[in-house]
Amino acid sequence: MNTIIPIASGKGGVGKTIFTANLGITLAKMGKTVIAIDLDLGSSNLHTCLGIKNRHPGIGNFIYNKGISLESLIVKTDIDRLYFIPGDSLIPGTANMQYFIKKKLIKAIQNLVADYILLDLGAGTSYNIIDFFLISKTGLLVTTPETTSILSAYAFLKTTVFRMLFRSFPVKSKERELIHNFLTERIEGTDNSFITLTNLLRNISPESGDYGLKQIADFYPRVILNIGRNKQAITLGSKLRQICKKNIGINMEYIGFIEYTELVSASIINRSAIMLTSPDSQFARALRKIAENLINITYLEKPTLYDFGEDLENLDNFI
Ligand SMILES: Nc1ncnc2c1ncn2[C@@H]1O[C@H](COP(=O)(O)OP(=O)(O)O)[C@@H](O)[C@H]1O
Ligand SMILES: [Mg+2]
Repeated sequence: MNTIIPIASGKGGVGKTIFTANLGITLAKMGKTVIAIDLDLGSSNLHTCLGIKNRHPGIGNFIYNKGISLESLIVKTDIDRLYFIPGDSLIPGTANMQYFIKKKLIKAIQNLVADYILLDLGAGTSYNIIDFFLISKTGLLVTTPETTSILSAYAFLKTTVFRMLFRSFPVKSKERELIHNFLTERIEGTDNSFITLTNLLRNISPESGDYGLKQIADFYPRVILNIGRNKQAITLGSKLRQICKKNIGINMEYIGFIEYTELVSASIINRSAIMLTSPDSQFARALRKIAENLINITYLEKPTLYDFGEDLENLDNFI
């Protein structure tokens, strides 16, 4: 069975793609088979960070051509055990992906054979991106220590938990209707909006309320603090954990702190990954620690969620 690790961020430009490329290399060097998939459709650039020329057919081919499998798009990299599936700059972007395409793509990703499948996602809180994040209970969220980035990470997690609750109940169920109304009427309840919501679910049935709470408790995102420049970064990072616990009720965990380093821009210019050129750098050490953490996680099981359902499309304008 594969382990799928989605890599997301609330705000763009926080280092997701650099991180994904180097994590892929690290896991491969540790003996794992890895497929890194560029899902930042519309502005794909994972190939650059992996030092691969952009001349291979990408996900657009799988989406638009019936006979083409996702596997057939896998490209071998120069690193043993590391494979890559290119994105596509010509399609309108993951955020705009149609329902049936998303369904087809998620299914194909789940069927790929590898130890680890890394998903380099686009930034933002669109439901399409979140549905890829929800392939796993323990997706990775990258943020920088800047307030704007931390707030976007918080917004991302909040929207993700709403979406997860929504998808915890079947299409067209009373519970979904309630969650939909809760969001669209913006019954904010500020600090404890999720508690209010689970209490409302409890009015439908005690089981529904309990199930909602259990789903929240089982959700365990992991956060990478990237481009840290000083100790203050860690203080800011711990604020995110506090507000997530207090306002959403989720336990998020930091599994890595990566310092700012000029090696990153040099590696992009030279198209050579830091893990290969500077394996003893702080950056490389941080990546190895994160990879070890990920390998040691014992419960990366998939969340039990229902289909998104076509009726959801119109929800995208809310939250
Ligand atoms: N640890 C780091 N140190 C210095 N610069 C970094 C670091 N991580 C990322 N960057 C810079 O941030 C920019 C955005 O990185 P990228 O991986 O493309 O972000 P994203 O995929 O989140 O949009 C890169 O051009 C890179 O120069
Ligand atoms: Mg990117």
